[in-house]
Amino acid sequence: EKGGFDTYMLKEIYEQPQALTNTLIGRLHDETGEVNLDINLDPASFKRISIIACGTAFYAGLVGEYLIEQLARIPVEVDVASEYRYRSPLVSENTLAIVISQSGETIDTLEALREAKKQGARTLGVINAKGSSMTREVDDVLYIHAGPEIGVASTKAYTAMVSAMLMLALWLGRARGTLNEELGRELLQGARELPRLVEESLQPERVENIKRVAQKYHQARDYLFLGRGVNSPTAFEGALKLKEISYIHAEAYAAGEMKHGPIALIDQNLPVVVIATESFLLEKTISNIQEVKARSGKVIAVVSDGDTEAARHADDVIYVPRAAEMVSPVVNAVAMQLLAYFTATALDRDVDKPRNLAKSVTVE
Ligand code: F6R
Repeated sequence: EKGGFDTYMLKEIYEQPQALTNTLIGRLHDETGEVNLDINLDPASFKRISIIACGTAFYAGLVGEYLIEQLARIPVEVDVASEYRYRSPLVSENTLAIVISQSGETIDTLEALREAKKQGARTLGVINAKGSSMTREVDDVLYIHAGPEIGVASTKAYTAMVSAMLMLALWLGRARGTLNEELGRELLQGARELPRLVEESLQPERVENIKRVAQKYHQARDYLFLGRGVNSPTAFEGALKLKEISYIHAEAYAAGEMKHGPIALIDQNLPVVVIATESFLLEKTISNIQEVKARSGKVIAVVSDGDTEAARHADDVIYVPRAAEMVSPVVNAVAMQLLAYFTATALDRDVDKPRNLAKSVTVE
């Protein structure tokens, strides 16, 4: 049932090109540069968006915040569901509450959804599991179509959620007139290329390289992950994946925050994963790499193919296929998954069933 793979997690990592094809299929229209999501809510009627989720889905929500604010110019807030449900959120009939969930059953997210509805929000679910509780309670659903995910640590559901958030941002931006046709087409093309880019990310020599890096540092006690902008959530997701399946303590920060505290942790024993792929802020991220090096930290840089500048300063380099910044969180997430996976297997962990974790958290 694992299709020749050692674990469900690895199988699901390799299923991503197909999963993403299923997420995107029939929804991108090249002729018009528009996306068709079959959502009946009126995109022009929202003044504010609240994204609500837990864990990995919350990080997909953070990517969504960057994309929606940039492309659709609507204020977005992102909350972990366990906070949202108790903090008397500000909601009006112009609020769109988006819940993101693989299982559609996570109790905190479900209760937060109920709270948002009670306060008068309109609601949209970005959900994987067909017919799950959340799908029955939201006004509309955008299924991510990732297929069943069995490994406890989320992989293909995450990249599918992020792709769905990109499509939502494109839909909102086009419908609200904040995203011009040309950029719309360009991003649509970027989305369309995602399955191929992820396929490329899984080429044997790339996977072998990540395995080598993972094995080199698998005895580290702590890890730090840094990323900027739309890839700061990628850093959070990388740290979460590593914690969940390897039990190595990992923290993630927006790279610009490093100076404000975490820099104190850096010494020769600390591997620091820096997401340094193509970005309008790459120069700043390279400065962060130099700051880590100046304090004897070990830098594992995740860089775009062909880059030499960021790679030059790093101890180890993970090359990923070059992608437009707005779609890069999907591509970069695959490297995070593989790094966590091979670290955990080097430590002989049970990656499909990590201790203390359940696939779906249905009790508070
Ligand atoms: C991380 C992970 C959890 C879930 C979280 C939400 O790998 O699996 O953090 O993402 O429990 O679950 P869903 O998406 O089912 O609501």
